[in-house]
Amino acid sequence: MADWYTTFANSGFGTTITKQLGLPRPVELRRYEPGEPLLPGAVVVGSAGAGRLRDTVTAVLRDAGVMVQSPVTADGATDGGKLGAVVLDATGLTSPADLTGAHDFLAPAIKRLRASGRVLVLADPPVEAATPAQAAARQAVDGLVRSIGKELLNGSTANALFVPEGAEASLTAPLHFFLSGRSAYVDGQLLTVSAADVPANADDVTPLAGKVAVVTGAARGIGAAIARVLARDGAHVVAVDVPAAGDALAEVANGIGGTALQLDITAADAPQRLVEHLRERHGGVDVVVHNAGITRDKLLVNMDATRWNTVMAVNLQAQLDITQALLDADGLLRDGARVVCVSSQSGIAGNRGQTNYAASKAGVIGMVRAWAPEFASRGATINAVAPGFIVTEMTAKMPFGTREIGSRINSLQQGGLPVDVAETIAWLAQPASAGVNGQTVRVCGQSMLGA
Ligand SMILES: NC(=O)c1ccc[n+]([C@@H]2O[C@H](COP(=O)([O-])OP(=O)(O)OC[C@H]3O[C@@H](n4cnc5c(N)ncnc54)[C@H](O)[C@@H]3O)[C@@H](O)[C@H]2O)c1
Repeated sequence: MADWYTTFANSGFGTTITKQLGLPRPVELRRYEPGEPLLPGAVVVGSAGAGRLRDTVTAVLRDAGVMVQSPVTADGATDGGKLGAVVLDATGLTSPADLTGAHDFLAPAIKRLRASGRVLVLADPPVEAATPAQAAARQAVDGLVRSIGKELLNGSTANALFVPEGAEASLTAPLHFFLSGRSAYVDGQLLTVSAADVPANADDVTPLAGKVAVVTGAARGIGAAIARVLARDGAHVVAVDVPAAGDALAEVANGIGGTALQLDITAADAPQRLVEHLRERHGGVDVVVHNAGITRDKLLVNMDATRWNTVMAVNLQAQLDITQALLDADGLLRDGARVVCVSSQSGIAGNRGQTNYAASKAGVIGMVRAWAPEFASRGATINAVAPGFIVTEMTAKMPFGTREIGSRINSLQQGGLPVDVAETIAWLAQPASAGVNGQTVRVCGQSMLGA
């Protein structure tokens, strides 16, 4: 299922019509293909403030085969003058005056960004600042990056990473993700990276080789895309869905050489059945993706208890119960495990008619934040991904007007694809993503809702 308007606006006839009528012309986003270079075109790396990460970033990018330009040589344009990405190292800011350097570097560099380019800003976490002036300068990065995201055209994105001192070794996987086509629909996001044991020499093509992954709600939509992307990245996938979706589930599992497990995740014995299946068939599990979710929309004043309770049971309670059962099952959740929980933009912004759904999805965000320290103590992580408008059967059921508006009110002017959510989850599932924990990553094209 593709975004029909983006396909139309990029067809010969559609280009003419949209130009003549002055309609938005969303571009086809650059999406990840295994084996392709990280980025088309060079990267220019600059700094504002002391910039303690510049050498680390340059080394990581060169290792990945990316041509790195310094701002001094950037004007002497190679590669037709177009840049694949612009990286600003804004660590070491002491006061807002230091931000002048950010403006001076970014303004000319962003002019040279090619389509589906990337702007990435690295900064120190505002909460750890020594003075109010330093906290102000660090927090300013937030407004700067979100605004750049809204100004960029042609499918380009702007994101930021807060990197505390000591977390430098955790930077590689986030840098690769945010510059690559894996992050096509991740825009306007600010994540914090923490110090962690990151394996050396991570395999970029099959980072999940030898891993066992469980994906709930895998029979269709986003879950099926997650199962396929995790399998492409090397994992053996146990695809879980309700018995009623058995045929579709078998098709997904067979297509990727995985295993189908028919299971209603809200059944009282579901956690135990999953634990037994994983122990008997695989001896353990490395990656768990809680994706299954439902909507039962009604205004709160008209909502019966069944609608409230079923949504809570599938979207939140099952995630809590299954995760707890996996933690309790001795040795089952392997060291370095990755749990990724699907939340929603509605859980951040709220949504009319979705009190039950939004409450359940906000609960997921609280859950991963609370569990992160325990996971870290096992070398594991737990994170959430909050999709915005994603083109699936769930969104196909919306009335035409709501669907069209919902899919356009973001900086990329289009709905995301299930694969965009799947790529973000697959990145969080990588061993090299050890430094991203307790975070919620929105995959929403920088939606205006809840931003
Ligand atoms: N599509 C979007 O725009 C969007 C936006 C934000 C969040 N999400 C979230 O992404 C996830 C996937 O959404 P989707 O659009 O692919 O939905 P979908 O309805 O197409 O697929 C959901 C799958 O979950 C399965 N499922 C439902 N209840 C289950 C249960 N009790 N046990 C096992 N499996 C069960 C369904 O059978 C189905 O195969 C959901 O958590 C949803 O809330 C979707």
